Amino acid sequence: MPRYTDDSKEKVRDAVDMIALVSTRTELRRAGVNSYFGRCPFHDERTGSFHVRPEEKHYHCFGCQASGDPFDFVMESEGLDFVGAMESLAGRFGVTLEVADEDPQARARRERRERLHTLLDRAAAYYARYLWEAAEAGEAREYLAGRGLEEATLKTYRVGYAPSAWDKLLLVARQAGFSEDELLATGLAQRSKQQRGQIYDRFRGRIMFPLADARGRVVGFGARAMRENQPPKYLNTSEGEVFHKGSQLFGIDLARRAAARAGSVVLAEGYTDVLALHQTGIENAVGIMGTSFTDEQAAELERTARTLVLALDADGAGQEAMLRAARVAEGRKLELRVVALPAGLDPADLVQREGVEAMRERIARSVPFVEFHVERVLARAEVGSAEGKDRALEELRPLLGPLPASVLRDELVRRIAGRLDLSDQLAASLLGEGAAVALPGASTGHAHASALAAAPSGPSGGFGSGRHASVAPPPVPVALDRRERGERTFLALCVAFPREGRALLEEADLAQHFSSDLARRAAAHLLAHAAAPLDGLPDDDPELATYVSELDARAARGGSARPGNLEHAWLTLELARLERAIERARHAAGAGTEGAPSISSLSAEREQVRTRLRHLSGRLQSA
Ligand code: UTP
Ligand code: MN
Repeated sequence: MPRYTDDSKEKVRDAVDMIALVSTRTELRRAGVNSYFGRCPFHDERTGSFHVRPEEKHYHCFGCQASGDPFDFVMESEGLDFVGAMESLAGRFGVTLEVADEDPQARARRERRERLHTLLDRAAAYYARYLWEAAEAGEAREYLAGRGLEEATLKTYRVGYAPSAWDKLLLVARQAGFSEDELLATGLAQRSKQQRGQIYDRFRGRIMFPLADARGRVVGFGARAMRENQPPKYLNTSEGEVFHKGSQLFGIDLARRAAARAGSVVLAEGYTDVLALHQTGIENAVGIMGTSFTDEQAAELERTARTLVLALDADGAGQEAMLRAARVAEGRKLELRVVALPAGLDPADLVQREGVEAMRERIARSVPFVEFHVERVLARAEVGSAEGKDRALEELRPLLGPLPASVLRDELVRRIAGRLDLSDQLAASLLGEGAAVALPGASTGHAHASALAAAPSGPSGGFGSGRHASVAPPPVPVALDRRERGERTFLALCVAFPREGRALLEEADLAQHFSSDLARRAAAHLLAHAAAPLDGLPDDDPELATYVSELDARAARGGSARPGNLEHAWLTLELARLERAIERARHAAGAGTEGAPSISSLSAEREQVRTRLRHLSGRLQSA
């Protein structure tokens, strides 16, 4: 990796227009001299906690504490390393970078690497052209089309075909001035064992998938056999100077941006799976190339997104891979979710058989890893004997242990009880209490209602999720959860501050402020029983009873929350209500409906709420 001069770095920093840079990710408004603000691009919020000072070239978010200079911004938002961020900014703002003084050896190493990358890049271009132009590749073109892969997708991934002759690439590369040594170092050629001295093309008669690093430089290939009697099914570049399978993620260069934007990455096993997912519009997909998920891959992904959505085969190997992924992710800031796939089908098969919508649907319905794991244990449990049940409980206890008391936990306990044929109470007591999770305000010393809303009491999950409160947005399809979480936070704070809570509940329009019927029932209940929420629960509504006792437990734990937090949660609901009303008014205006509330009066109201939220955030911060 080149090292650029400090001077180059400063030139880039000077050239960056901070407002132009940040504006590609979020809308900014002027707050004062040399000061702008907007919604934070790094966490989900409705208010504008994100502040930019263009002269200092600095940003800071009061909500999630993200802060830094232009380089940090690009690293964070595009999942690049420092050099990558520098190159990206230099390109965007027209700065020529200078490589730092190198000793002759370092310089020679860098130049050699650059040549090897160039050779690999040219080879990829050669194979790609061969796929589309050579008569010999006709069968491969048909095969790929038959698998439902479109030409545009294949071209995006630069898929190619290697000639079946032994020396075609060799000849072209030599003509272009590359040496035998370079061909061997890139793994494009290999030396024959029998006839010493002879080298020949490693990849022959195979479909070629170029493997690139996060910055898009080709480092090797995965090559699929065309015929059954052509083992192995996939031949990869062997470990060498530039290719290291353990740190490689197929498609990372193309997935990076979408992943940083969505806050999630979809992990599949194979090359064709990634192509199929991309083709369905799931552009944040990468391939782990087989079943072993390595620590290096996890480290790379952690830089890009917080949520890993595992879309691995449902067979035994795929399930093992998921457990392994969970172990690897443990201790990292990664939240795992699992996509249920029908047995024997990988994402590529599924897209082909059931279509694009079915695949998107399944991804949207991914479940927290812990839920998948519990299901797996239950599926194998011997439920016919007391001993079998005890063994299953033994296995389940450590899975539920780190989960905070939550609706998810409660649901899992009830599912376990049902399957093991135990009463809910017995299952709950045998599985132990939920982990007590302090509200963020209690641990950091300053309660902040939006952080409270992001506390991991909702359906977060996976190993270690109790320890790593994920403030990253969950993958896009589960956006609804966020709204429900906001409502739950508000209701828990109503329990914590019954007098203020009651006043707000009286003001609330249950149909407009709450999204689910359950939350509405809970709000109605609290209106009558705010001071003693566990009193007067109806006998015939166990769902409500669970929900309310969870609110009560949460209120009891939220020791340092203040009435300001309640007000913040309320204003957040207000804002959401107004936004929906504006949306409806727009529709109505489009349909020419008479008598709809005016968009401008709603917008004015929304502005007022936003201003109040901003002031309140400021007060909560400084208190
Ligand atoms: P699969 O055998 O599931 O193949 O291996 P696939 O991706 O579904 O391939 P298609 O759909 O039949 O074309 C999953 C991944 O494991 C790696 C490859 O990265 C492959 O995509 N693999 C598999 C190898 O590296 N070598 C092999 O021999 C087989
Ligand atoms: Mn497949």
